Amino acid sequence: MTPLDSNGGPRSPGNMAATPPICDYEDSDYRTRFWEDQGREYEDAAERIAIRRLLPPTGGLLMDLGAGFGRLADLYDGYRRVVLFDFSRSQLQYARSQLGDERFVYVAGDMYRLPFVAGLFDAVNQVRVIHHAADPAAVFAEVRRVVRPDGVFLLEFANKRNLKAIARYLLRRQAWSPFDLQPVEFVDLNFDLHPSWVRRELTSAGFLPGQLLTVSHFRLGLLKRRVPTRWLVQADRLLQFTGRLWQLTPSVFVCSRASASGVVALTGTFFACPACQCPLPTPQALVEGSAPANGELVCRPCGRTWPISAGVYDFKGV
Ligand SMILES: C[S@@+](CC[C@H](N)C(=O)[O-])C[C@H]1O[C@@H](n2cnc3c(N)ncnc32)[C@H](O)[C@@H]1O
Repeated sequence: MTPLDSNGGPRSPGNMAATPPICDYEDSDYRTRFWEDQGREYEDAAERIAIRRLLPPTGGLLMDLGAGFGRLADLYDGYRRVVLFDFSRSQLQYARSQLGDERFVYVAGDMYRLPFVAGLFDAVNQVRVIHHAADPAAVFAEVRRVVRPDGVFLLEFANKRNLKAIARYLLRRQAWSPFDLQPVEFVDLNFDLHPSWVRRELTSAGFLPGQLLTVSHFRLGLLKRRVPTRWLVQADRLLQFTGRLWQLTPSVFVCSRASASGVVALTGTFFACPACQCPLPTPQALVEGSAPANGELVCRPCGRTWPISAGVYDFKGV
């Protein structure tokens, strides 16, 4: 995956603060290289259990933020409308080829500049994405902006205080401390976060962090090869609730509610210009729940145009 700044330019220390870098999955083989027949059935099943437990099963409008190729889309059957949002058009196009346009809306853009009006979503789910964020607190603030008051934000994050990291640190095979609260970038644009830091930052962004589940207790090659997947999944199912007591797994899910105060989106509004934040005209296809024709959305106040191409609303070029 290529690190870019959010204008699509090469990453450099000078532009990091202004535009957080992006881990670019455009045209990546993530689906086939990481998931399909890659021995991750256990992780996939364990994550699905956690999401089913924490995400309200039904609702109006949900966004999968960093949806990739739509791996988790079948979990949103109880939602009237689902936005699959990702920086990678190619991932979204694959998702669209599998899921169609009836209930799904495909939007390409940057999670630091969500192209939606404030107070729009009933629920946002973000799995395996925040570990790519150089500025997770900015993402939380942006999610809080687009979630309606009392809406849900289900977040999965890579836990820096996991058992393996603790063991490696104690054996002096790892320089960084898993107990230190600050995020650690262990590989370029891959960050592990501390559960207490995540809770603190979610709270600062205007969320009330609630139930927390620990996931993937048995993410060890040897165990996965020796023990049947269904046994590991069942054991994980039982152990996930220990997350309320301690968090030592590589993956943690936390379900937060947005605070009760704040803006609710006006009926009929949906997209907002990511450059100037003004509401954009709502496309007829969105109202009808059909595939959008190729064209563009024009922001009258700032004059920017946002392409619609092959069924994807494209806000990447901020
Ligand atoms: C590891 S994949 C996870 C995909 C999916 N959530 C899943 O669990 O299968 C990370 C995804 O985050 C997306 N992503 C990374 N940085 C992003 C950003 N700044 N804005 C939007 N999406 C981003 C990538 O394009 C990629 O599809």
